[in-house]
Amino acid sequence: MKRLSKLGLVLILGFVLLLSACGTSETGSKDSGKSGGDEKKTLRLVTDAAYSPMEYMDGDKILGFDIDFARAVAEEAGYELKIDHVGWEPLFVEIDGKNADLAISSITITDERKQTYDFSVPYYLSTNEILVPEGSEIKSGADLKDKVVAVQIDTTGHEIAASILGENHKDIRPFETTPIAIQELLSNGADAVIADKPVVDEYVKNNAEQKLIIITDDSFEQEFYGLLFPKGSKLVEEFNEAINTLFENGKYVEIYKKWFGEEPDIDALKAQS
Ligand code: ARG
Repeated sequence: MKRLSKLGLVLILGFVLLLSACGTSETGSKDSGKSGGDEKKTLRLVTDAAYSPMEYMDGDKILGFDIDFARAVAEEAGYELKIDHVGWEPLFVEIDGKNADLAISSITITDERKQTYDFSVPYYLSTNEILVPEGSEIKSGADLKDKVVAVQIDTTGHEIAASILGENHKDIRPFETTPIAIQELLSNGADAVIADKPVVDEYVKNNAEQKLIIITDDSFEQEFYGLLFPKGSKLVEEFNEAINTLFENGKYVEIYKKWFGEEPDIDALKAQS
């Protein structure tokens, strides 16, 4: 009798564990947030929170425009989010392996990435900028030709550096994070950094004493950020619908103004989708 009940307990425990393991992620299950009854389904979102003001760590909290936006979209679509800071390259690995349901990280929608991943409609309009020390002779992208350029690895800034200096050129210095690339510039290991406008602008604003100059180059393309999903994810449609609702109901404008102090150009975003 005693033995039997012990066995029973073990079985029940095992079953409970199995059930809870199934419930942690949307991946692999079919029903959606809204139709899923009262209990909201939790999705795992991954990010590289070293990209202020878009996503950054404040103690153990993950904050930023992207984070507020992702939370609002998920709520609108009827999901809870579990947000993990995993880093830039690992984020793609997590999505590849379907260990995460989606990613937000100022990820530019590119044709190349579209072959491997699905994106939401565009939610942010950006471009790359060049960061140089005061007095630098670099005035445009073309001036980077014989210079040492620090970038975050496998970003669109990295691609621009490759298109100017040449693929895998020794004077392109790819780093795991954008802050490390900027450190390289500050310690004279590089002549310039190429990175996304909102991040470069924020950095210069907050570090005036470092006397850095922002160079804009009109030949650098407009870039549109999207939420990233595993290819074929059922969530894309629901999230697109939710994003469009936030564009219409003022919530997107509210979040945008909170972080950037100005009105977003929603028409430019819509024109792209
Ligand atoms: N927008 C650029 C890209 O998609 C850089 C994004 C980097 N994001 C980050 N959180 N580190 O390649």
